[in-house]
Amino acid sequence: MQIKNYWKSAFQWKAFGLRLLIFNLTKRLIFAQDSDIVSSCTRYKKSVFDLQDGYSFLLHDAPIINKSLDTCHSYTPLISGGQIAEPKEFPHMARLGNRNGDNKTSWFCGGTLISNRLVLTAAHCLYSPSGAVNVVRLGELDFDSDKDDAQPEDFGVRNTTEHPSYKYPIMYNDIALIELDRGVRFSVYKHPACLPFNDGNRYDSFVATGWGQTTFAGTDSSKLRKAKLEGFHLKCPEIDDIVNLPNGFNASTQMCIGSTDTNDTCSGDSGGPVLIYHEEYPCMHHVMGITSTGFGCGTPNLPSLYTRVHAYLDWIKQTIANIS
Ligand SMILES: *[C@@H]1O[C@H](CO)[C@@H](O)[C@H](O)[C@H]1NC(C)=O
Ligand SMILES: *[C@@H]1O[C@H](CO)[C@@H](O)[C@H](O)[C@H]1NC(C)=O
Ligand SMILES: *[C@@H]1O[C@H](CO)[C@@H](O)[C@H](O)[C@H]1NC(C)=O
Ligand SMILES: *[C@@H]1O[C@H](CO)[C@@H](O)[C@H](O)[C@H]1NC(C)=O
Ligand SMILES: *[C@@H]1O[C@H](CO)[C@@H](O)[C@H](O)[C@H]1NC(C)=O
Repeated sequence: MQIKNYWKSAFQWKAFGLRLLIFNLTKRLIFAQDSDIVSSCTRYKKSVFDLQDGYSFLLHDAPIINKSLDTCHSYTPLISGGQIAEPKEFPHMARLGNRNGDNKTSWFCGGTLISNRLVLTAAHCLYSPSGAVNVVRLGELDFDSDKDDAQPEDFGVRNTTEHPSYKYPIMYNDIALIELDRGVRFSVYKHPACLPFNDGNRYDSFVATGWGQTTFAGTDSSKLRKAKLEGFHLKCPEIDDIVNLPNGFNASTQMCIGSTDTNDTCSGDSGGPVLIYHEEYPCMHHVMGITSTGFGCGTPNLPSLYTRVHAYLDWIKQTIANIS
């Protein structure tokens, strides 16, 4: 009798209970990760890709029903090697440069938009021989074309913050945040990437993007390029004798990523992202690494080193909190 009663009430509360269960599951998933980062990732996705389509029955006083249309669908997966990026494929992609008194800009680094005001990059980009980073372009695809499907917009720089333990030219803790002079209006052309939900060790392949050289010591590409790369995990070559890395590869703060074939492009500009796709939202990426330093380009099995973003989440969150 008691069991029957139990089931009866369970039946009555089924809808509620189901919602509660889903909520609990989601909550547990979130706490296994980082709740702020998971929720801001979802918020960013919804801000541009969930279109609210309100309608009402043509009756007086009928309630307005909001239908949400999810426009976050497919992406173009990479086969191998380097390719030209599709329009709107990497809306978080930033390019950093110095604009001089004659209004001439030299572009020298990449970056990743991670909020409406902050661009993540490599700390060594703040030490460029071309000058200080004072201009950030978002929404660009081809620098040589006004007719591409892009909405380029230049932002000034209000402030830059490098990691307190970064000591140029040593490449450890090669991470910095650039605060833009105004908020970015999100669209399918300009939109943040999510921060990592995990350290990235579980992935075997990544996507790197940038306008960097397509051959070692070559000229920059006018078009944004993407390359599929592989995680080398701990199989990183011996790099003990590198001046900028006196203690060699540090697997807790760096990632060793490269290509096993020669078709790989240079991994893009320094400061640019190495990405994975979001597991649920095919239109979203996570920035897992920051292009930091490498040994050349297009040489098979010679990977590059990327700053492991996950190791710096506390510092990133603290910097975000300081500016808002
Ligand atoms: C529908 O959307 C409008 C505008 O966003 C909002 O004011 C309203 O509360 C929503 N209605 C429901 C039932 O969610
Ligand atoms: C400087 O160059 C930018 C980009 O080329 C352009 O949008 C801007 O109008 C120029 N400013 C001046 C003062 O010429
Ligand atoms: C720039 O950033 C640094 C480090 O986060 C902070 O101490 C400083 O107050 C900021 N300056 C401005 C003008 O916001
Ligand atoms: C790697 O870097 C972390 C953080 O800077 C440091 O605590 C650790 O000792 C380093 N590991 C090695 C093997 O150098
Ligand atoms: C590298 O590129 C060449 C020419 O585009 C192609 O024929 C070859 O299959 C590629 N190799 C791999 C491993 O993708």
